[in-house]
Amino acid sequence: MSKVTVVGAGNVGATCANVLAVNEVANEVVLIDIKEGFAEGKAMDIMQTAQLMGFDTVVTGVTGDYSKTANSDVVVITSGIPRKPGMTREELIGVNAGIVKSVAKSALEYSPNAILVIVSNPMDPMAYLTLKTLGLPRNRVIGMGGALDSSRFKYFLSLALNCNANEVEGLVIGGHGDTTMIPLTRLATYKGVPVSTLLSAEKLEEVAKATMVGGATLTGLLGTSAWMAPGAAASFLVESIIKNQGKLIVCAASCEGEYGMKDIMIGVPCIIGKNGIEKIVEFELNADEKAKLAASEAAVRGTNAVLYAEGIL
Ligand code: NAI
Ligand code: 2OP
Repeated sequence: MSKVTVVGAGNVGATCANVLAVNEVANEVVLIDIKEGFAEGKAMDIMQTAQLMGFDTVVTGVTGDYSKTANSDVVVITSGIPRKPGMTREELIGVNAGIVKSVAKSALEYSPNAILVIVSNPMDPMAYLTLKTLGLPRNRVIGMGGALDSSRFKYFLSLALNCNANEVEGLVIGGHGDTTMIPLTRLATYKGVPVSTLLSAEKLEEVAKATMVGGATLTGLLGTSAWMAPGAAASFLVESIIKNQGKLIVCAASCEGEYGMKDIMIGVPCIIGKNGIEKIVEFELNADEKAKLAASEAAVRGTNAVLYAEGIL
């Protein structure tokens, strides 16, 4: 029997629970929120689709009672405030750090062996905060950002190539921020063919830019941050853990020398399996990519420094 808890039954959390259920990723999904009755309502709404969608996963909702989340294999943390138009993810740190820290502690109390997936923004520092606060081994704290950003990258590439997005491969590494993420255009392929041979350098630059501001574009259109792809990306990550799929997914991982980085959580390619981050995959970056990663690292460190300066860590 597998069990997943999703903390925060808002847009991203409820979508994640819904995708987990529809894809029957786990036997049981518990949604938990602080807002009275909210998670119960979202869970009931999802369960009323079970006969229509034909899934057997049982989704329940609970307000604040972590005992109901006991013995979860994976805990996904989406609680906190989302960005509004014009806001950066980094501006959310003050409110979200307190929420993430407290819910992570409560969840771990009842699920001491769980793998934690952090979604709340600013995600890289929130994952770092969780790792440092709970003192867990680095394989058990995973930040979700690269799965989403890479999916957006493939979407924009498929538009440029006028092809099926499922036939495109591409990775976005670095921080999960409008200026910190790095779409690796050099390594992206369409059916194994480098996209650099199919698209002009200008077009590739356009695709990379659209990817980087992908979240901000949607926030502008929707009035709040996106949830469909974020919820699905979190479920995709959880599935690789629960089913021990060993997929290569870019995640914020705690680096201990990989890519020359230490004491930071930032997006790098990871093998994701039953133990969480099974391995960080290292490959040679060119000089331009190295410079971009160094700038991204500096930006993420700058936000982590706020956690120390404000006494949160
Ligand atoms: P939302 O406002 O729809 O939902 C957040 C939920 O968290 C609310 O239902 C709220 O009641 C709940 N909450 C607040 N404090 C809580 C606590 N202490 N315990 C339990 N629940 C609590 O927001 P949305 O759109 O779902 O976004 C959630 C977070 O995910 C935001 O920080 C957003 O920036 C982030 N996000 C991250 C992405 C990523 O790729 N890492 C992508 C999209 C969003
Ligand atoms: C997103 O990328 C804001 O992190 C959120 O949609």
